[in-house]
Amino acid sequence: MIGMFTRLFARREPVLTEARPRDAAAIAAIHAASFRRGWSDGEFERLLLERNTVAHRATVGRALHGFILSRLAGDEAEILSVAVASAWQGRGLARALLNLHLRRLAGLGARAVFLEVDEDNEPARRLYRRAGFREVGRREGYYQQDRDRAAAALVLRRDLV
Ligand SMILES: CC(C)(COP(=O)(O)OP(=O)(O)OC[C@H]1O[C@@H](n2cnc3c(N)ncnc32)[C@H](O)[C@@H]1OP(=O)(O)O)[C@@H](O)C(=O)NCCC(=O)NCCS
Repeated sequence: MIGMFTRLFARREPVLTEARPRDAAAIAAIHAASFRRGWSDGEFERLLLERNTVAHRATVGRALHGFILSRLAGDEAEILSVAVASAWQGRGLARALLNLHLRRLAGLGARAVFLEVDEDNEPARRLYRRAGFREVGRREGYYQQDRDRAAAALVLRRDLV
């Protein structure tokens, strides 16, 4: 009986694995719910088919609740997107995905990882700060918030060696 309950609850823990092209639609759905401009299933599928794309997903059973996706070029990587479904946010899922992802990038030879983040995006900034990223640049007026206001993009970097 105890074993059955253990298995039941264990099954609700997200599992982190590499994302595949067949995850494109589920990833596009989370992305569309998270960002002003979504990317299509086809765009994600093309990205996931590329050899220099590295992507991880968080799944519970067959449902995908979060992902992170980067592009590797030589010894540098750029995180292109990360998102967690709203029902799963605030539980450390992005942190776990990011940690796994950085280990994988390091294993593939990346020595530095870059990304851009909206300066108003506090959850994302906290996520990256805790993971050791530091600000190396700033692009004013990069993210259009509404007709009259655009937020700056912060360029962040984390060295892996
Ligand atoms: C950013 C995002 C991926 C974080 O996912 P998450 O699984 O909720 O993050 P975690 O639970 O691992 O927490 C990471 C950090 O964010 C903080 N955080 C999470 N939700 C927060 C919120 N609503 N407000 C403020 N901080 C928040 C956590 O406290 C944690 O910081 P800490 O370690 O200093 O306490 C998620 O909010 C998201 O998908 N946002 C929309 C897409 C997006 O903005 N992606 C980033 C683009 S660069």
